[in-house]
Amino acid sequence: MPDSWEVLERDCERCRECALCQTRKKVAFGAGNRRAEVMLVGEGPGANEDEQGVPFVGKAGQLLDDMLAIIGLDRTKVYIANIVKCRPPGNRDPMNVEQDACIGYLYRQMALVRPKILVCLGRIAAMRLINPKFRISKDHGVWYDVDGVRTMAMYHPSALLRDEGKRPESFADLKSLQREIDRVCERTPTGWRSLLSGGPEA
Ligand code: URA
Repeated sequence: MPDSWEVLERDCERCRECALCQTRKKVAFGAGNRRAEVMLVGEGPGANEDEQGVPFVGKAGQLLDDMLAIIGLDRTKVYIANIVKCRPPGNRDPMNVEQDACIGYLYRQMALVRPKILVCLGRIAAMRLINPKFRISKDHGVWYDVDGVRTMAMYHPSALLRDEGKRPESFADLKSLQREIDRVCERTPTGWRSLLSGGPEA
């Protein structure tokens, strides 16, 4: 049977493949436009995301929204998910065993969204999706072809909250993202394909 959003979301809600299920309040499955041409992948839910079951709703999420707005994007035009869907206690990095248990769900999300552009938010997502040796301070803003998808990594918004000195580099990466969108995404005179074909959950 072909995969569907309903089956995938139910599989995630019921998942007990790693120990994070014992401490989670809610699974932060994914958010945004399921037909988006741009997909963003973070690391894992924090406390706010765990409460609400939605990725990037805390302070880092607010900054992410502000960053997207700089290039005319918002959550109706992108799809957002994480490498792991349940909160690592104390906001520690997700362990490899947890990432291994969860990554299949992200791949299924990618297969359903079929983005043209993938943006890794931070080191954990970049190491998992681009290259295990990825160095975020050196390799952010560089474009890669990953299985036919144009892929780049930016600093995680939490890193930008901790160190404002990194913001000019992230601004340049955002501009590069905007140029890549202009180059590879289908736009029409009235807007984005994803907007024409329905709202956030279309
Ligand atoms: N940080 C992440 O990587 N993902 C979230 O959903 C929230 C904070």
